[in-house]
Amino acid sequence: MLTAYTSLQNAQKVKEYLQKKDLFHPHFLPLKEMGFIYFPIIKKAKIPNAEVINTKFLLPQREKKETIEDILKDKLSKKQFSLLPQSQEIVGNIMILEIPEELKDKEKDIAEAYLALNKNITTIVKKEKMHSGEYRTRKVKILCGKKTKETTHLENGVRIKLHLEKVYFSARSGGERLRISRQVKKGENVLVMFSGAAPFPLVIARGSEAKHIYGVELNPLGHKYAIDNVNLNNLQEKVTVHLGDARKVVPKFRQQFNRIVMPLPKTGEEFLGVALPKVKKGGMIHLYQFLEESNINKHARVIASMCKRLKYPVRIVRKVKCGQFSPGTFRVCFDMKKI
Ligand SMILES: C[S@@+](CC[C@H](N)C(=O)[O-])C[C@H]1O[C@@H](n2cnc3c(N)ncnc32)[C@H](O)[C@@H]1O
Repeated sequence: MLTAYTSLQNAQKVKEYLQKKDLFHPHFLPLKEMGFIYFPIIKKAKIPNAEVINTKFLLPQREKKETIEDILKDKLSKKQFSLLPQSQEIVGNIMILEIPEELKDKEKDIAEAYLALNKNITTIVKKEKMHSGEYRTRKVKILCGKKTKETTHLENGVRIKLHLEKVYFSARSGGERLRISRQVKKGENVLVMFSGAAPFPLVIARGSEAKHIYGVELNPLGHKYAIDNVNLNNLQEKVTVHLGDARKVVPKFRQQFNRIVMPLPKTGEEFLGVALPKVKKGGMIHLYQFLEESNINKHARVIASMCKRLKYPVRIVRKVKCGQFSPGTFRVCFDMKKI
């Protein structure tokens, strides 16, 4: 078989070259022998620091990972395979599938295949109803596995316990939470206005040297999970969560904050009048919105003039696309400085 043969000293350089040029044979593993190494390759090529040798022996075979296609090949047609969801959201031990209507009568088979392939997953559910209502909750249906909709999700060094239908949570926003926590400076007091099960307060508490983080949440069940999660992560000294309507709770804070996070993209801007007086001059507001790409700049100007009208001018420092709501519509964060 065709191999690239080199000394162990040059192995790393050769490996990187083979990866860059897509020359690795996917079905075999490299073999070390007496200070030298054979890399399996797919075709003859000039490889710096290596000699191309056609060996009489085979290199060890890579263990073939079973795929969804292997498991479902007798159950789904080619057309049905093309309808399978390309990405799945995983929250804790639960995988959430988006099964198109055309595959409804195959949903059990599909779910069982995903369960068999993913050792860390214990339950497979499908999306039934999108996030809706004031609490932004959703409906899911259990397709197979353990009959539970409660799980504990690990993210950015914290554990977040939640019930998929009782409180809003999106695992896909983990990167955005990290982005915000990285901006928080030592000694900051931070307010998260729509805190849900408290993922933002916990990630900020874990990932920054903030002095204290406060959360406000309207959904009593969401708030209950937030309390559990503060305890679960031993962050009682750094995080305090409040139950209630942000319109009523926020004005009662005596202090002004260094930073306010507003993760309620549907209607968050309606709360600017409550948030702006409570952020210090020079402090930051992170306001989330659902916007079409072509509308982002225009809407940033609308928000800036809204703040000016409220007598609290801001400068929009960044416009960050941090998720997709539907084709062409993004979850956008405006990072705004109060001036
Ligand atoms: C999109 S979710 C975000 C939850 C959480 N921050 C997260 O990232 O997972 C918005 C949250 O705002 C809460 N909410 C809606 N209106 C509110 C209000 N007037 N005051 C406080 N919280 C509110 C909802 O119950 C929901 O939990």
